Amino acid sequence: MSVTEVKHPLVQHKLSYLRDKDTPTVHFRKLVEEVTLLLTYEATKDLPTEDVEIETPIERASFPRISGKKVAVCPILRAGLGMLDGVLTLISGARVGFIGLYRNEETLQPVEYYVKLPSDVADRDVILLDPMLATGNSTAHAVKLVKDAGATSVRLISIIAAPEGIKNIQDNHPDVQIVVAAIDRQLNEKGYIVPGLGDAGDRLYGTK
Ligand code: URA
Repeated sequence: MSVTEVKHPLVQHKLSYLRDKDTPTVHFRKLVEEVTLLLTYEATKDLPTEDVEIETPIERASFPRISGKKVAVCPILRAGLGMLDGVLTLISGARVGFIGLYRNEETLQPVEYYVKLPSDVADRDVILLDPMLATGNSTAHAVKLVKDAGATSVRLISIIAAPEGIKNIQDNHPDVQIVVAAIDRQLNEKGYIVPGLGDAGDRLYGTK
């Protein structure tokens, strides 16, 4: 399994504002979208291409275009929804699936409340979106859901990951390619990533 921590200055600069507790919701939302767009660029760098013949205004020649499977992007609700437009800006033809999971705060285990995947998800490259890869329990559950629906190619884009979450995915789904902006130190006793950015859903939607 590959884990890529994107160290690009633009990503790290924007991430520092996401971490800042004084960044207001309106900026936080925009920054999540922008960081996701940049992470999508990295997460899709190995999509296969094939040469196609094009007639430019000057001459006929061959150039690469993305070939193979189409993409299904699946945000894990609710915080993953904040990342969706960042992916769709780059991959406008992607189909979208929704995975509604919440975390039981006592057991830290995922509880499924809504799942709607594209009917042809088995034929698509799946990109899962979950801004905070904390324990990894919800994300591992989401990977299982798309695999049970037939998906064979799964990527995960998260903004921040904890080592515990990465290990969880590594142990349970070693084929999943993970792209993150940062791998933080650890989880605290409440399951939050430290230093992290707090509750991504609350910060995106102004709830508490
Ligand atoms: N979910 C969040 O929103 N933040 C964390 O730190 C961990 C899980």
